[in-house]
Amino acid sequence: MEKPTKIAAPRGKLGVLLPGMGAVATTFMAGVELVRTKKALPVGSLTQMATIRLGKRTEGRSPKIKDFVKLARLEDMIFGGWDIFPDSAYEAAAKAGVLDAHHLALVKTFLSKIKPMSAAFDHEYVKMLNGKNVKKGKTKYDIALQVKDDIANFKKKHGCSRLVMLWCGSTEVFMKEHEVHATPESFEAAMKENHPAIAPSMLYAWAAITNGIAYGNGAPNLTVDVPALRQLAQEHKVPIAGKDFKTGQTLLKTVLAPAFKARMLGLNGWFSTNILGNRDGEVLEDPGSFKTKEESKLGALEFILQPHLYPDLYKKIHHKVRINYYPPRGDNKEGWDNIDIFGWLGYPMQIKVDFLCRDSILAAPIVLDLVLFLDLAQRAGMRGIQEWLSFYFKSPMTAPELYPEHDLFIQLMKLKNTLRWMMGEDLITHLGQEYYD
Ligand SMILES: NC(=O)c1ccc[n+]([C@@H]2O[C@H](COP(=O)([O-])OP(=O)(O)OC[C@H]3O[C@@H](n4cnc5c(N)ncnc54)[C@H](O)[C@@H]3O)[C@@H](O)[C@H]2O)c1
Repeated sequence: MEKPTKIAAPRGKLGVLLPGMGAVATTFMAGVELVRTKKALPVGSLTQMATIRLGKRTEGRSPKIKDFVKLARLEDMIFGGWDIFPDSAYEAAAKAGVLDAHHLALVKTFLSKIKPMSAAFDHEYVKMLNGKNVKKGKTKYDIALQVKDDIANFKKKHGCSRLVMLWCGSTEVFMKEHEVHATPESFEAAMKENHPAIAPSMLYAWAAITNGIAYGNGAPNLTVDVPALRQLAQEHKVPIAGKDFKTGQTLLKTVLAPAFKARMLGLNGWFSTNILGNRDGEVLEDPGSFKTKEESKLGALEFILQPHLYPDLYKKIHHKVRINYYPPRGDNKEGWDNIDIFGWLGYPMQIKVDFLCRDSILAAPIVLDLVLFLDLAQRAGMRGIQEWLSFYFKSPMTAPELYPEHDLFIQLMKLKNTLRWMMGEDLITHLGQEYYD
């Protein structure tokens, strides 16, 4: 792809459309409001807090990313979304139980005004949920057109100059690519005949992309990762990115596994288990939705450790992932990892990780960064899969012939080099020979 010559300035309001207004979405919206009213810090967000080194180490140039690239301002963000439950964002946030009473009180007026539009939903794809705030239509195509109308009405009502859509809805049942996903024509025909290979999340993605709106996928759902929608993204000059926010256990996995491989330490097994009690945990009780999540969580190790290149170290890895719904914990997930590694002459060692995390607190800054970077990519004329955003995902989307890059630090380098490339700065290779000439 050619380097962007001129990146349009982020003028006017940026509409942020979120299918799924549950724990993650409401924690994100509340957080943006708290940050822009100077009541809290955007911890965990690269777009708000990280710097980027430019030029040589001797130049001392390390601006904040938000001062280096032209990102939309938090003050210019307007939120909207869809959910199968009619609760306002305030009621949904209160039920999700992520934010404490002090923070909730500060954003009550703001969140109460954000009411979900009726959802494109089908119980067959998320078996643990039933809600009444759902669109009706003869075909999936009719429902997708209603989503398009929602988008147009939102844009007009709020006077947005640009929009981004980011899926924060539930994990749908496991789906494989089907022949109806092959082309935009077969995809549209399948929507019209209510084909089961068209999931509700795909209706939002189709509506967004054909409206020229960037689409990010925070769940492991197949959604945009099919040829028809990838092709439409190219045709409509729309950036797309996914899948599945990389927040807790997988974040640590993609930090630790590259360390073992860097030092040529072997791995026999990695057992990961979780307890969590939020609605996401409840949805994942259904074996169909769990399978989607499991596939997403299992991928990272294989791609990082490359057992085909290092059979002596990684060919016999027992990798297991368990998720247990345990209501008392709410959103405060606990993830345990037992890692069986081996060293010099094959002597075994063990590592235990116990991460008492907060799911949505880790996810919210990812949502913010993805919204801002997808908007930036679109203004820069970048279209199709945005591999440089792999940093944020458990199952990064790539061109079909490529394997995904999972190593967090390679992903970070790729992200920052893409920003340098967009702005015409030298890429940083870390060679550093010039300092010793
Ligand atoms: N929190 C994390 O750490 C994390 C990490 C990775 C991925 N995710 C994914 O992000 C998503 C959101 O997580 P959450 O904790 O906010 O879950 P949540 O259950 O609190 O919220 C999801 C919301 O989506 C709604 N929904 C489901 N199908 C819908 C549809 N077709 N249209 C509109 N709304 C729909 C549900 O009613 C629910 O309110 C989940 O898919 C989860 O797997 C979360």
